[in-house]
Amino acid sequence: MADETELKFTRNDFKRVREMIYQRVGISLSDSKTHMAYARLSKRVRSRGLRSFSDYLDLLQSSEESDEWQGFINALTTNLTSFFRESHHFDILREHARARRKPGETFRVWSAASSTGEEPYSIAITLLELWREAGGGTFQLLASDIDTNVLQQAAHGIYARERAEKVSGAQLQRYFDKGVGRNEGLIRLKRQVREAVSFFQFNLVAPSWPDIGRFDAIFCRNVMIYFDKPTQAGILSRMAACLRPDGLLMLGHSENITHLTDAYAGCGRTTYRLAYPDGGEEGG
Ligand SMILES: C[S@@+](CC[C@H](N)C(=O)[O-])C[C@H]1O[C@@H](n2cnc3c(N)ncnc32)[C@H](O)[C@@H]1O
Repeated sequence: MADETELKFTRNDFKRVREMIYQRVGISLSDSKTHMAYARLSKRVRSRGLRSFSDYLDLLQSSEESDEWQGFINALTTNLTSFFRESHHFDILREHARARRKPGETFRVWSAASSTGEEPYSIAITLLELWREAGGGTFQLLASDIDTNVLQQAAHGIYARERAEKVSGAQLQRYFDKGVGRNEGLIRLKRQVREAVSFFQFNLVAPSWPDIGRFDAIFCRNVMIYFDKPTQAGILSRMAACLRPDGLLMLGHSENITHLTDAYAGCGRTTYRLAYPDGGEEGG
């Protein structure tokens, strides 16, 4: 039987957790997250056979390379997502792709906090549908997250049927397989959709970003809310360099960037484009 005895979690333990997660992935934990941190990390402390939080935090701090760092990060991320969440972005994406579609050119999209995959698969379905209706085209879709658990789930592309409430009947029919027997109640993206998305681990606050090219659209939704303003500003500035001149940046419904940077101009509901697509400054 699992040992569920209460572990001591002092103010200092929480302060250490807060500093460590901020340093690694930029997540800012307010005091109101103390209970959440305790609930999620106590499982990690026990799974390592340790008796206290301070032993657990010492273990992490004793080695930058400890494989427990990933467990610590995975425990503290919040991965809530759904298919066609904030659905206006998929309408905007469809129209943007329709207008940008050029023979011989690959339309490129990056889902930069892709969680369990619902967001990039919704993008893939949108583009596959458009390509089908418009008579062909090619796209490349990258999807990244810091959390290795969600990346693994995303790559499998298997979900409970009720997770797909915003997926139309026709889309379900065309792009998903329905589980039978002991898989009753589950759905799985068809191979064509799964293979349309390349998942990889990527830390938005890494000291340097690998060159992943420029994109026609970047979805960076509902992740900035976990970061403080300077971190948000740094990410936005790097993302500007990853957009094609007429590329679009989609943010989550509560992510307002107007006071953080003048690199973008609003062009639709929580949708932005580069304010200076040729790299010039205002009036310059
Ligand atoms: C709430 S989910 C958003 C999922 C999806 N974009 C959506 O809007 O439905 C936030 C995701 O951001 C990821 N995340 C948090 N910090 C990150 C970082 N520094 N780099 C990359 N991803 C991060 C989390 O692991 C989590 O899966």
